[in-house]
Amino acid sequence: MELFNVYPVNPINIVKAKGSLVWDEQGNEYLDLYGGHAVISIGHTHPHYVESLTQQLNKIGFYSNSVLIPLQQQLARQLGEVSGKVDYTLFLCNSGAEANENALKLASFHTGRKKIIAFSKAFHGRTSLAVAATDNPNIVAPVNETDNVVFLPFNDEDALVNAFQEYGDEIAAVIIEGIQGVGGIREASIPFLQLIRSLCDQYGAVYIADSVQCGYGRTGDFYSHDYAGVAADIYSMAKGMGNGFPIGGIAIAPKFKASYGLLGTTFGGNHLACAAAVAVLDIIKQEQLLANAREVGTYLIEELKKFDKVLDVRGRGLMIGIDLPEEYANVKKELLSIHKIFTGEAKPNVIRILPALNITKEIADRFLTALEERLKA
Ligand SMILES: Cc1ncc(COP(=O)(O)O)c(C=O)c1O
Repeated sequence: MELFNVYPVNPINIVKAKGSLVWDEQGNEYLDLYGGHAVISIGHTHPHYVESLTQQLNKIGFYSNSVLIPLQQQLARQLGEVSGKVDYTLFLCNSGAEANENALKLASFHTGRKKIIAFSKAFHGRTSLAVAATDNPNIVAPVNETDNVVFLPFNDEDALVNAFQEYGDEIAAVIIEGIQGVGGIREASIPFLQLIRSLCDQYGAVYIADSVQCGYGRTGDFYSHDYAGVAADIYSMAKGMGNGFPIGGIAIAPKFKASYGLLGTTFGGNHLACAAAVAVLDIIKQEQLLANAREVGTYLIEELKKFDKVLDVRGRGLMIGIDLPEEYANVKKELLSIHKIFTGEAKPNVIRILPALNITKEIADRFLTALEERLKA
């Protein structure tokens, strides 16, 4: 059997990894500033993470939500503490799309309404409602097309006010990334997030903060949306949560009432996934990774702004977009082929930096030196 060929892959077979470094089968060393789509939060093969997962696997790897799994409570407790949302509740699932799918469903159950507001260039995942709220017609199958999702221009306060005035009592939820990732590292403005909060309050709609890529400490705040000083009703998360072990979740404000069967999953919240997520939170706390994300991120952004060929530097913490002129369209590829540095991209010509939260200044400097060389070439 062959693989269903949907990924344009780099012909590199990574066989070993440590921290922000990975090695291919020929022993070539690479710098990983991408973390496989922003997933690696505490660095590859962190000793505490490896030990926690190994120990857990030797005890029990999986059982479903039909039995007590105390690790889930431990995870919820630690997540509440590090995120500052101690009175929220946690529903666990397996991916970012699934987290958003459940967030949107919960909003609809809660309000009894159908309409979802999403924004231009948004990416919320590939399952049915998440993809319907994603602004990319190429990945929306005919069966996922729906009039229930309305797209508005990102950061456009007037358009948002008008939409609520027109059909506010039909709106179940507004879903927004604090910083759009796939959309090219574009920040939601503080007034825009505050307006979403106040309109949702006024019209009884649910504010969903998609924190799948911009969350879990990446920007220096646990949830990037919180820099606007207002809380969301539901935060969706995945990526950095398990440092590569598939786990996602939604943190749910106290006003939502749970009932048996309302949401559910077979795999979500299993022992091994929770052990991974608990280990990640242990390290985030012990190694003060939010502070490191802030410090090294600020350093990187300041240094990148000094490059005269760079058109724009966007983002916060360790979620950084570097806009390059068209004639430097090959820089991302060359960083990999010549300097052995993995980075991400966004269309049309943005390099996306999404490294592990424990990246050092020395690693940041290696990237800056390589980029400087490429921009001089
Ligand atoms: C903001 C955002 N939401 C949701 C998702 C979907 O996550 P997953 O691929 O885990 O389903 C992604 C993935 O890139 C994302 O960036």
